[in-house]
Amino acid sequence: MTAQHLQDTTTLYNGVNMPWFGLGVFKVEEGPELVNAVRTAIQHGYRSVDTAAIYGNEEGVGQGIREGLEAAGIKREDLFVTSKVWNADLGYESTMKAYEESLRKLGLEYLDLYLIHWPVEGKYIEAWKALETLYKEGRVKAIGVSNFQIHHLERLMKETEIKPMVNQVEYHPRLTQKELQSYCQANGIQLEAWSPLMQGQLLDQEELRNIADKHHKSIAQIILRWDMQNGVVTIPKSTKEHRIAENAAIFDFELSVEEMQRIDSLNQDHRVGPDPDNFDF
Ligand SMILES: NC(=O)c1ccc[n+]([C@@H]2O[C@H](COP(=O)([O-])OP(=O)(O)OC[C@H]3O[C@@H](n4cnc5c(N)ncnc54)[C@H](OP(=O)(O)O)[C@@H]3O)[C@@H](O)[C@H]2O)c1
Repeated sequence: MTAQHLQDTTTLYNGVNMPWFGLGVFKVEEGPELVNAVRTAIQHGYRSVDTAAIYGNEEGVGQGIREGLEAAGIKREDLFVTSKVWNADLGYESTMKAYEESLRKLGLEYLDLYLIHWPVEGKYIEAWKALETLYKEGRVKAIGVSNFQIHHLERLMKETEIKPMVNQVEYHPRLTQKELQSYCQANGIQLEAWSPLMQGQLLDQEELRNIADKHHKSIAQIILRWDMQNGVVTIPKSTKEHRIAENAAIFDFELSVEEMQRIDSLNQDHRVGPDPDNFDF
């Protein structure tokens, strides 16, 4: 069922509840802007934050979380925190160490979700085994992957024990990922959208403008609502308080089936980020 409230969750196949909506912090550097964004989002009712070791901002995210929890009067358990192991650290021991380092920087005792950031050939299986150990030891609530195509998921599931709970991929109206979404759905893997707003590049698109005007909403809100109605977890990034609030104000209207199809038809299989089958980092 489509999320009805900002704090509604999807239940991952292992029983863990993950908010459908969260804050992304890619390209936000350490400093007050970052700390304020995370705190502000939590104050506005966000219950999920997505970071990564490579963003180089886990300390500020941790500070924002502490301030946000206090300001909102909620506990650590009420929040869902995701980080990701970077490519250079993929390997059994190195991934175990990277997890400790992320926890240390964030100032947390556990993560809700730890992801393999990119499917580096020859490395992600060993790294996954480290995530399995962390999960079995109860050090992390859920484990998953990012930027995995169907063939990466197939190999992972064939060669390892625990199926990923989440796959976080680039997903927006220009890249609707239908085949991958069906595959993940059939396998009980929750799809999560990164760059849901196509990094701001879709916000003057005419078709979306028409739909937005009809609902008296912004284009960003239309896209994020489309994520919700498609059953895709989403984590738009903004450091501006008014946009942090705007992006989350998507639970008071509904897109019709016809509008959903019109948005789907904008697909061009177009990426703004790297191609998971052809990257060199
Ligand atoms: N796993 C991966 O490989 C991967 C890759 C990329 C991203 N991610 C995650 O996904 C998150 C989101 O993706 P993203 O940051 O690449 O891009 P995004 O969320 O699609 O777009 C962010 C951009 O849109 C602007 N924006 C946000 N809300 C807006 C609004 N309501 N109206 C107008 N402009 C708005 C932001 O500017 P302001 O800040 O100025 O508002 C920013 O420039 C990241 O932060 C990160 O956590 C993961």
